[in-house]
Amino acid sequence: MNIAIVLAAGKSERLNDINVPKQLYLLNNVPLFMYSVLTFNNLEDIDQVYVVTNEECYEKINQYLDLYRLEKVKGIFLGGKTRQESVYNALKKLEAAGINGDDIVLIHDAARPLMDKFIVLDNIAGVKMYDAVTTAIKVKDTVIKGDEVLDDFVDREGLYQVQTPQSFRFRIIKDAHDNAMKKGLGAMTDDSALVKANGQPVHIVKGTTANFKVTTIDDLKLLEMIIL
Ligand code: CTP
Ligand code: MG
Repeated sequence: MNIAIVLAAGKSERLNDINVPKQLYLLNNVPLFMYSVLTFNNLEDIDQVYVVTNEECYEKINQYLDLYRLEKVKGIFLGGKTRQESVYNALKKLEAAGINGDDIVLIHDAARPLMDKFIVLDNIAGVKMYDAVTTAIKVKDTVIKGDEVLDDFVDREGLYQVQTPQSFRFRIIKDAHDNAMKKGLGAMTDDSALVKANGQPVHIVKGTTANFKVTTIDDLKLLEMIIL
């Protein structure tokens, strides 16, 4: 089975000039989190979709999911204080529900609404081949280091910007999270980092520029320019 986990349990602290957490922000009357949920739901290769959210958004997310009645959306999980905790909570719930260790889980930020089906298909194909993949794009701009003043140029050769989905065989991501907790690595922002730290190679699947993360008001304006 191929299972998508859409993370929408954040607090939107860097995007607080709107009156709701960004996952609930409406674009064309559709809440932001629903964009990637719909992309997953509409793909034959995806079997189940779960949404992770916080107490503040739970009721609204539940109402929207009721309204859309998507056949593959199987439930809502409560997240945690950090992104890592949110993912871990979802993994524990899936384990309790009897998920198979070989099942593929795709972990995606709801804050990346323009993720497309080709990224999903490449993630699934990548896991079938390598067990663990992250989506990423090559850095295109010149990169500099500095603090107000230019200090030095960074060689961009071999540099990537990480995106989601990040996708794994269930047993690999669960084991990485279990071990991270044991070692006290409690607030890593990225699942591929946990898997790598657990000794498992992570392959790179090509993302797109459109799959950017809505983090600040600038990003939201860009998104509105693209889709409104
Ligand atoms: N996320 C989550 N649980 C958390 C923190 C984040 O599920 N405790 C999710 C967010 O909802 C988002 C994704 O992880 O879809 C990427 O996080 P980010 O862009 O940082 O969102 P927020 O944490 O909400 O924003 P901020 O860091 O500005 O507060
Ligand atoms: Mg955050």
